[in-house]
Amino acid sequence: MIVIKTNEEIMKMKKAGEILAACHRELRTFIRPGITTLEIDQFAENFIRNNGATPEQKGYHGYPFATCTSVNDVICHGFPSKTELAEGDIITVDMVVNLDGWLADSAWSYAVGSVSDASRKLLDVTKESLYKGIEQAIVGNRIGDISHAIQAYAEGQGFSVVRDFIGHGIGQKMHEEPQVPHYGPPQRGTRLKAGMVLTIEPMLNTGKYHSKIDQDGWTARTVDGGLSAQYEHTLAITENGPIILTEQ
Ligand code: MF3
Ligand code: CO
Repeated sequence: MIVIKTNEEIMKMKKAGEILAACHRELRTFIRPGITTLEIDQFAENFIRNNGATPEQKGYHGYPFATCTSVNDVICHGFPSKTELAEGDIITVDMVVNLDGWLADSAWSYAVGSVSDASRKLLDVTKESLYKGIEQAIVGNRIGDISHAIQAYAEGQGFSVVRDFIGHGIGQKMHEEPQVPHYGPPQRGTRLKAGMVLTIEPMLNTGKYHSKIDQDGWTARTVDGGLSAQYEHTLAITENGPIILTEQ
């Protein structure tokens, strides 16, 4: 069942999204060579709590941290750790903010210092693929139109699209219907209606799209050691087009 949100509920989610976006804006300068992913996690958790909200990922199905910090070949769900980031790394920070019971979800990839041209291109194309998907998030289109726009653009630029992790409906629960794959044929799947709130969160790899999970049971990596990046927004479908609730 897809939970349709009222305008008031969408505005509550936007308030959560504004805190999340502000946290990502702070991370742009906080993330630099020498910092640890645990320091990033603590910064984000403090930022969220100082704004009267809570980090929804902490304790979610036993996940131990406020954020996922996914470095280089890690696709998603990387554990924050004491390892220092190095110049040339790329890192995705993913978090879900809960403000008064309403959620917003956004992941963003960052360059650590200056990065190779290949890494820069992966970041740029992954971000652009998110916006190609958002362009299709209009009333009357179907989920498959979002999926297909992302896949066509990403593969056209020479990257692969992760299959094992997808976008989702969101509201008072982190994961609601519908599922939002970032690959697949157009004009298929659920028809988009005003009041749906979704995440679109493409993960693109330089090599194969396949993933494997570390011994910790969470950290998902590329099978071939290729790099992976991700950008995610939460957005509301309205009669006047999508509203990005986590816009920075
Ligand atoms: N924020 C993630 C998503 O986009 C969820 C991460 S799983 C968690 O769906 F356990 F870390 F919360
Ligand atoms: Co999500």
